[in-house]
Amino acid sequence: MEVVVLADADEVARVAASRVAAAIRRRRDAVVGLATGSSPLGIYATLARWVAGGELDVRAVTGFALDEYVGLPAEHPQSYASVIRRTVTAPLHLDPARLHVPDGRAADLRAAAEAYERAIRDAGGIDVQILGIGANGHIGFNEPTSSLASRTRVKTLAPRTRADNARFFGSSDEVPTHCLTQGLGTILEARELVLVAQGEAKADAVAAAVEGPLSSMCPASVLQLHPRAGVYVDEAAASRLRLVDYYRHTWAHKPEWQRG
Ligand code: GLP
Repeated sequence: MEVVVLADADEVARVAASRVAAAIRRRRDAVVGLATGSSPLGIYATLARWVAGGELDVRAVTGFALDEYVGLPAEHPQSYASVIRRTVTAPLHLDPARLHVPDGRAADLRAAAEAYERAIRDAGGIDVQILGIGANGHIGFNEPTSSLASRTRVKTLAPRTRADNARFFGSSDEVPTHCLTQGLGTILEARELVLVAQGEAKADAVAAAVEGPLSSMCPASVLQLHPRAGVYVDEAAASRLRLVDYYRHTWAHKPEWQRG
């Protein structure tokens, strides 16, 4: 795992966005896994700037959302379909026909989950998966004790997650209770993982994910199993990492030839 400690949220966005851009430059029709939440917004804004400036061509890119609430109409402003349209598809001028989001309105949610797994496979798999991390260590909506081998499925949101996400809704009562989320096994199949975290509130989760035991109690610790996982954090989110000096040293001495 590559752990990169950066000065602030802008640097996190720039370095993580350059990983995603590199995957798209390697393959014009790259498949990108898209996380919602506030953490990756800087990545999307940075990519949008590069697209606007003609430095990056995303016209052939396909996107797969990590997760979706169950029961919200697709046009609800907080459905992840809407959030991704607003924060990714529109600013990057991505082809809306190439955006996939799990169908949280499906009458048969199990079939919708299976169809989502199939769609990822049919697209050739995800080249680079963008991830945030919940304060309880979740990625996507894989809450603590999620199977490390899980596939896309229905999950019940943890009370903490509903409380954390209440800021996007009128109150925590309005946050849906269930979701469809890519599983940890699904996420592990992406060819590269790019996880970003900013702020002190994420420091414990980041430390558990990077340096704690591999455990379903911290779903993000599953990144330890991935051969190409990068964790990009600001100083505050890095503040509980024991090996922080090692991470700084490694990044400062990373040769140009190792950066691709
Ligand atoms: C949300 C999403 C996750 C996200 C996490 C953290 O509920 N399902 O994909 O990484 O919680 O959100 P934020 O980045 O806003 O802290």
